Amino acid sequence: MDRYAVFGHPVKHSKSPQIHAAFASQTGQALRYEAIEAPLDGFAGTLRAFVAAGGRGGNVTVPFKEQAFRLADRCDALASQAQAVNTLRVEADGRLHGFNTDGIGLLRDLTDNLRLDLRGRRVLLVGAGGAAAGVLGPLLGAGVGELVIVNRTAARAQELAARFGVLGPIEAAPLQAPGKGFDVVLNATAAGLGGRAPAVPADVFAPHTVAYDLVYGPAAAPFLELARGAGAAAGHDGLGMLVEQAAEAFWLWRGVRPATAAVIAALRGAG
Ligand code: ATR
Repeated sequence: MDRYAVFGHPVKHSKSPQIHAAFASQTGQALRYEAIEAPLDGFAGTLRAFVAAGGRGGNVTVPFKEQAFRLADRCDALASQAQAVNTLRVEADGRLHGFNTDGIGLLRDLTDNLRLDLRGRRVLLVGAGGAAAGVLGPLLGAGVGELVIVNRTAARAQELAARFGVLGPIEAAPLQAPGKGFDVVLNATAAGLGGRAPAVPADVFAPHTVAYDLVYGPAAAPFLELARGAGAAAGHDGLGMLVEQAAEAFWLWRGVRPATAAVIAALRGAG
């Protein structure tokens, strides 16, 4: 059976094995998908051993996405823009092909699942790490009217705004003064993992604002509570994005596109 895996540290709570098992049974694809915790200083070796043992592809999560980008023999445009890889495919000649499906996953969740038309919208992206870099290209490609990026460390937001400026209307702003009443506010920081919300002013939110955290579950709660407290009517965590980025990876590996709605609903039901 073809083998796939998600590599991360930590990785034992990953929902990816469950998601890909659901995709495989739904599409009749024979494959095995496991979670592999690589040592913090041993991602390359762990990945090489997996490929040597016949592994066909993998997902890469925190903190290895930038390393995966450097290890890949070639990368698609989105991964190259982001300088981060979340999906690896082992080609017939053994070479590693890197992709980044995070931004596509976010876009599919926002537009297909949540029925949000991003064209012309004012979007605030909070955070300037790997997660933010992974979604900038697809967000700008969706035709947003204005994309403001802010970050605790301002220089990182400025660097991303400069790097992605060729793709669309992006500008960096101070974390304390990003502007008011955005249509969409996206949290791409890791603050929620420590139980905190990023320190954005309350008036970035308005009643019409859609707040979205790229992480899912309890880690999304501080940001979504901040948004709700500031009057935003709609708040969503990143579970839909997780399933959609997985569906895109499955398509890259197997050439078959799984349906996602039932998988998202099942994960929500399971808590
Ligand atoms: P990831 O791959 O998850 O994006 P990362 O590259 O380490 O991880 O980036 C983490 C992001 O979360 C950064 O934007 C970071 O801000 P800094 O660049 O200033 O470090 C942000 N972040 C982490 N903890 C935060 C907090 N408590 N408040 C605000 N931003 C935070």
